Amino acid sequence: MQAAPATAHPPQKLYHQAVPWLDTDGQPINAHGAGIVAHQNAYYLYGELKAGKTELVPGQGWECYRVPAGGVACYSSHDLLNWHKEGVALAPNTTDPHHDLHVSKVIERPKVIYNDRTKLFVMWLHVDSETYGYSQAGVATSTSPTGPFQYQGSVQPNGQMVRDLTLFKDDDGRAYLIFASESNATMHMVLLTDDYLAPTTQEKQILVNQSREAPALFKYRGLYYLLTSGCTGWAPNAATYAVAKTPLGEWRQHGNPCVGPGAASTFGGQGTFVLPVPGHPSEFVFLTDRWNKTDLEASQYAWLRLKMVGRRPRIYGASQAQPR
Ligand code: GLA
Repeated sequence: MQAAPATAHPPQKLYHQAVPWLDTDGQPINAHGAGIVAHQNAYYLYGELKAGKTELVPGQGWECYRVPAGGVACYSSHDLLNWHKEGVALAPNTTDPHHDLHVSKVIERPKVIYNDRTKLFVMWLHVDSETYGYSQAGVATSTSPTGPFQYQGSVQPNGQMVRDLTLFKDDDGRAYLIFASESNATMHMVLLTDDYLAPTTQEKQILVNQSREAPALFKYRGLYYLLTSGCTGWAPNAATYAVAKTPLGEWRQHGNPCVGPGAASTFGGQGTFVLPVPGHPSEFVFLTDRWNKTDLEASQYAWLRLKMVGRRPRIYGASQAQPR
């Protein structure tokens, strides 16, 4: 992430657990599968806007609950505590049933990074059909962090299917798209072009045949850490972390970084992003979604404490989030 304002408050003020999380107007924040970008003294939070009736898509072998695709919501903050609703940064399409962003489709896990050369905010997101058979990565751009983002289309990088995804912008300006592929069996990591608008052919299969999803990548003291969940639909499961020396290098899978009661279910959540805590180099916040599968609009969030203990991440539930 880019330089951002240092927050004066201690990191534990940032953790919150599955209580209604309200914006500065007192309304529930509607930004699921979220990511955050820091830019010019502000933070911008992007997430899936889930609104309306949840329905079960018939004929699937799994619990395919969905709401109409609501586009991507954006909130801004100067302190990571108070979030102002900016509105819909990437609007859904309401008229063309063949459009990737039509309300009948799936829009998930939007992530945004800033390109210093083109001065564009670049959003990648998982776009899919309601049965998840389309499996593409969409890309959109905006000159302003709050949008409106212009949709540029979608792609299967090097012919590979895309489901849960995340983005990572490295210190050297290179950016990577990380995504669950091969019917969720194996993750892929692909280097993006310099403008971040397309995949290159520099791609690597990682966590091969481990069936991981919900990727969230961060860097700490020169190493790369990838948190993922298992594949159990909307139900929570145990997270794991993997470590590599370079993004396209060898990723070594480790165990569950969560500790204490609730660790086996990631405290009831599924990860989506890792936020460095300004001014506290070994402290991060692990953003998780607590899905309510039969009423997805009512899904909650938990921001969990992630502390680096030596080279190992440790993630704590509410009762253990105090500094140590
Ligand atoms: C998993 C994924 C979510 C969503 C649901 C659909 O939880 O992480 O992004 O695709 O499955 O069931």
